[in-house]
Amino acid sequence: MNRDLSVTGVLSRKNAIMRTSVGIDYSQYETGTIGFDYERLMRDTGYDLSAIRAIQSAYGVGNTPLKELRHLTALARKVAAPGKGARIFIKDEALNDSGSFKARRASISCYHAKKMGFPGVITATSGNYGAAVASQTAKHGLPCIVVQECYDSRGIGQPEIIEKARACEAYGAEVVQLSVGPELFYHFLTLLEETGYFNASLYTPFGVQGIETLGAELIEDCLKQTGRLPDRVVVTNAGGGNLTGTARGIRQTTNQRIEIVGASVNLKGLHMASDKDFNRKSFTTGHTGFGMPFMTNPDRSDVPRSAARPLRYIDRYVTVNQGEVFFITQALTVLEGIERGPAGNVSLAAGFALAQEMDQDQILIVQETEYTGAGKHHQAQLAFARENGIDIRFGDPVEEVPGISIVLPESVGKIRTVDLDLEAIRRSAIKNAVKDHRRIQASDVTYLMEETNSSREFVTRVLRDLSVEWEE
Ligand SMILES: Cc1ncc(COP(=O)(O)O)c(C=O)c1O
Repeated sequence: MNRDLSVTGVLSRKNAIMRTSVGIDYSQYETGTIGFDYERLMRDTGYDLSAIRAIQSAYGVGNTPLKELRHLTALARKVAAPGKGARIFIKDEALNDSGSFKARRASISCYHAKKMGFPGVITATSGNYGAAVASQTAKHGLPCIVVQECYDSRGIGQPEIIEKARACEAYGAEVVQLSVGPELFYHFLTLLEETGYFNASLYTPFGVQGIETLGAELIEDCLKQTGRLPDRVVVTNAGGGNLTGTARGIRQTTNQRIEIVGASVNLKGLHMASDKDFNRKSFTTGHTGFGMPFMTNPDRSDVPRSAARPLRYIDRYVTVNQGEVFFITQALTVLEGIERGPAGNVSLAAGFALAQEMDQDQILIVQETEYTGAGKHHQAQLAFARENGIDIRFGDPVEEVPGISIVLPESVGKIRTVDLDLEAIRRSAIKNAVKDHRRIQASDVTYLMEETNSSREFVTRVLRDLSVEWEE
């Protein structure tokens, strides 16, 4: 068969390629004018929490330790108001095979690909997920291709991404490295079509369900170690799967309401698709450049309906600065003897500040760590930032300008979070969901309430402001 391999030709076959490569016909879940049945999509994978636990324990994933950070807690209490400073715990996800919670995500996708008889697995990711998929496919004896956005137009690669390529290759995967730009999706689709491999997208229900065990474990670990539930769980947020899967796992394990706080590095002003900005950021994930667009428009992902829907679960969304995360990374290393990578430490920097709002008998869990290594190490990232002309200094982190400076806090008390306006984010999500529609159905209003975790009154008020009508 002669296929049209032009960009428009391949993109016009996008839905069919996705249906074959993920094995899900997303159209059967569509409801009303704009909605879809999210819970049925998740249920239909056929894997429940106990099945996922069994698969993960057979493939080197999960059951990571929850560790109390006594010295960081003591440090937070030194700068907190009297009686304040919750106990800080961290779930040491770096101890999964492949070094991050992404192993949970990859484990179910790769298990499923093997079960369904796919000849191999492809994933488009520049981050930990590539290594996680490569590690899991190695265990299953399946070929693996990882497609990365790696270089700027000068051919200079972000050290963290280059390092990840090496890890993927070490696991036996083939790595396709591209420069910044829209052609990644085209290449990805042609590879899926050519090979007939499974698309281990980050955003399928398989991937997100794999993270539910993390939420379940942290509740069980906390109860076992302290005899009580955590009061607050802080989650590093980018595409939203981490937060979604963790929150869903928590809800399946306790009826008690646990506060879920998302945390991202503030990269305001830097453009993720910009060649110029690509190497001016020191974080390749866990930042607002992914966090904001994915929260307000989750279906911008590479599958028709993303299973990562953080706005359904998030109670509060905060940012920290790059300098604060580097500082806390070093503090974790020297005070606790735990050297870990940047993405997990985003939630640690936020958690360190947020614990100071809480009483001393309360418990805050930082939900993950990730491994560190040559390219992602904080010293390597700071050296790379310096080479790219970023001004690095100590001072007040509020002065940091992403892409221009990195300001390390001159004192511990200067580590603070900034709250993002969740109501504005919810409005924006509703606006994106109704996009070109002037009238929606009654079921769509319920869908929007679930999507944004808000009341009918709020949703209908926003619809009215947008001049969108709805059926009662
Ligand atoms: C270690 C680590 N933490 C957090 C995240 C953010 O996860 P998500 O994109 O699901 O929000 C990532 C994703 O790249 C990651 O690798």
